[in-house]
Amino acid sequence: MLVSATEMLKKAKEGHYAVGHFNINNLEWTKAILQTAQELNSPVILGVSEGAGKYMTGFATVAAMVKAMDKSLGITVPVALHLDHGSFEGCYKCIEAGFTSVMFDGSHYDIEENVAKTKELVSVAHHLGLSIEAEVGGIGGEEDGVVSTGECADPEECKRVADLGVDMLAAGIGNIHGKYPANWEGLRFDVLDNIQAKTGAMPLVLHGGTGIPDDMIAKAISLGVSKINVNTECQLVFADATRGYIEAGKDQEGKGFDPRKLLAPGFEAIKAKTKEKMELFGSVGKA
Ligand code: 13P
Repeated sequence: MLVSATEMLKKAKEGHYAVGHFNINNLEWTKAILQTAQELNSPVILGVSEGAGKYMTGFATVAAMVKAMDKSLGITVPVALHLDHGSFEGCYKCIEAGFTSVMFDGSHYDIEENVAKTKELVSVAHHLGLSIEAEVGGIGGEEDGVVSTGECADPEECKRVADLGVDMLAAGIGNIHGKYPANWEGLRFDVLDNIQAKTGAMPLVLHGGTGIPDDMIAKAISLGVSKINVNTECQLVFADATRGYIEAGKDQEGKGFDPRKLLAPGFEAIKAKTKEKMELFGSVGKA
């Protein structure tokens, strides 16, 4: 059931668990994540970066695929189709294409411009029933061409943006997209605590979910994180499973080269990873 992310995140914040945001790249990713959410009776957010949208030939294609698949698989759990790290123009494109949620990442603008652009998009998104995520501070590393040095968010600025009426707020707290370096110092819980104190009931978003140790995830949820984004981990398990299939020579046996067979181990690996994360985030049975 395609819905905005507003209600599922409100429930998650009140219930002290987090909804998983899993980035999608193609049909296999989408099907694996939707099926897992349904099997576990969990709400879920399908994240689409601008790069992935372009890869799938445009946001209209993505929206049509997700809507049709949601229906044909008989999905009854709440599913939000969400733009990840959207530009100002990208948000408008996704709103038009039929997404149910957008993220406007204005973190690279100065705070005045971030506030002005976020404010405009909040009004447009809410008028049409979509949820909207904003960002303050930076998520380190690179994701689909979105690069940041990863400065921690200023809690006062977080409050200003939260007060615009966004439905969820991403704040840099030392988190990074992609694999964490060996010398990573961990999440800045002191910063998260201050942000939570200033923003109250606002569901907070933890980007860069790949590779964050389980105890840090649990602590982040206890400090107000209600949405956790995972991308790279699904890519890594998909690549590993596909390599294993080919290295075992299975593509050479019978009709093992059939793409439906070739992609099956990677598909199952995404399902297993999504299940593991939903269990860790506590969203199982919360649909
Ligand atoms: P990872 O690739 O580190 O899991 O981050 C995903 C993310 O934050 C998407 O916005």
